[in-house]
Amino acid sequence: MKKAVIITGTEVKGCTYHIKEAFLQELSGEYKATEFTLPKDMPHFCCGCKVCFFDSESRCPHAKSVMPIWNAMLQADLLVFAAPVYVMRVPGQLKALLDHFGCHWMVHRPDSAMFNKRAAILTQSVGAPNGAAQKDIATSLSWLGVPSVKRLGFGLMEGVIWDELSAQRKEKIIAKTKRFAKGFVGIKPAKKSLKTRVLFLVAKQLHKGLLKKEAKLSADNRHWVEQGWLKESK
Ligand SMILES: Cc1cc2nc3c(=O)[nH]c(=O)nc-3n(C[C@H](O)[C@H](O)[C@H](O)COP(=O)(O)O)c2cc1C
Repeated sequence: MKKAVIITGTEVKGCTYHIKEAFLQELSGEYKATEFTLPKDMPHFCCGCKVCFFDSESRCPHAKSVMPIWNAMLQADLLVFAAPVYVMRVPGQLKALLDHFGCHWMVHRPDSAMFNKRAAILTQSVGAPNGAAQKDIATSLSWLGVPSVKRLGFGLMEGVIWDELSAQRKEKIIAKTKRFAKGFVGIKPAKKSLKTRVLFLVAKQLHKGLLKKEAKLSADNRHWVEQGWLKESK
């Protein structure tokens, strides 16, 4: 069975929750889902200590919350992010999680397990455009090396309480979400995209330069050498 990790950016069992549940229903025959809900499962802001960049993410003060999510993501075939739009952007709790993955961005210590994954972003707002919030997530996924990211967004228009939306509106949202979810059934892992290749090559050149200059290998440089992506020249 394939694996899906679902990260929901709110604990409210409202509109985001129902959209996420509809999406999961379509996947249930093919994917085993591991779910995380924010802020409950990762309630910390990055404190800026930079220990993840300079040493190891396992020494992050929030590793106990972050590592189970990251490890589940590494093992998953599909990454699903479901979130409401807050003030035109992604909710802070989701941004706080994404900040903790900065050390795995392409320019630092990317994990090749990300290079064939698919991702889905599900968002909704009352009426504001969803694009900027989706981009907050999509930007992180691109820099983590995920080659295929699909997005679906809704404007609820009638209100913010799921049970108060008209039956017709709810049916339309659920039907559209299920159609979107079907696009992830019966598919193979994604091929490395041109964007992923370019970001990798740019980062490789950067690390090649640093490797020549620096007397001592940084954690990032060591990763590139250990992965066999770069040769240590001295
Ligand atoms: C703090 C906060 C900020 C929000 N900002 C916006 C916004 O800028 N534009 C918008 O159309 N809806 C906004 N909303 C509404 C949400 O996008 C969403 O539609 C609503 O929270 C219902 O989703 P839920 O049941 O999953 O919480 C906001 C809601 C909250 C709680």
